[in-house]
Amino acid sequence: MRIDTRTGDRRGVEVHGFDPADAAADDLATLRRHIYHDKIVVLKGQSLDITEFVALGTEFGTPVPYYEPMYHHPDNELVFVSSNLDRDTGRIGVPKTGAFWHSDYQFMPEPFAVTLFYPQRLPTASRGTYFIDMAEAYRRLSPRLRDAITGTYCKHSARRYVKIRPSDVFRPLGELIAEVERKTPAQRWPTVMTHPVTGEQVLYLSEAFTYAIEDASATPLPETLLTDLLTESGQLDDRYEHENIFLQSYEPGDLVLWDNRTLIHRALHNPSNEATESLRVTVLDEYPLTREDAA
Ligand SMILES: [Fe+2]
Repeated sequence: MRIDTRTGDRRGVEVHGFDPADAAADDLATLRRHIYHDKIVVLKGQSLDITEFVALGTEFGTPVPYYEPMYHHPDNELVFVSSNLDRDTGRIGVPKTGAFWHSDYQFMPEPFAVTLFYPQRLPTASRGTYFIDMAEAYRRLSPRLRDAITGTYCKHSARRYVKIRPSDVFRPLGELIAEVERKTPAQRWPTVMTHPVTGEQVLYLSEAFTYAIEDASATPLPETLLTDLLTESGQLDDRYEHENIFLQSYEPGDLVLWDNRTLIHRALHNPSNEATESLRVTVLDEYPLTREDAA
């Protein structure tokens, strides 16, 4: 196994010659360290079936099935499928997922620690995922904003991005909204959390899921504060030119792991609707989302 640290615009590390079927415990421990400290680990030249992909996920934590079954791979509920393919046997997964700034499961009581992303069909152009390192975003915040968010909390909900299921056709919208609130009630986390492994301070919010900011006694703070945080962290830049944004592109055989506490991401969809399909396994690790001593 050879690990190359990427340079320039390309973040994280690239791993060559890693065979999950024959991986030494030391190599796996090394990869785990790199996920937390370098945030993105790209395993090159992978060729795994569904079972092997899930088995790899268990090396980094406990895989969790997505709460909505329509995303599940038909052979294994632990695999989330994003696909626009029309097969003779019918559709699997859900098309055009995640084209908004978010962290996976940020709206849930236990957000995922690590995401494993494994593209299967890549479009010829516009393939990749945008990322923002929210620890870096926190370090780059203006002193005014850093002061303003000390001791504050953000609230997160999936409500704006829950996708209508085929089985929901003809149901009243009000009933669906009430169901979303019941199944995925809003969560509250410190605006600045402390990463349990690296100790880094991470700005924990996203354009898709974060809808309010409040002080420690749950008094709402002005909406403009949240807008300013989204702006300064780069999430409102429609041209993706903000210095915090970087693009992870994919080659066939890439399997990408990232630290889902620190990075937020946004899928880059091909407007041509070319065939595209990716698989995902998401895991919880042995640590809480944030250290108890978080701001
Ligand atoms: Fe995602």
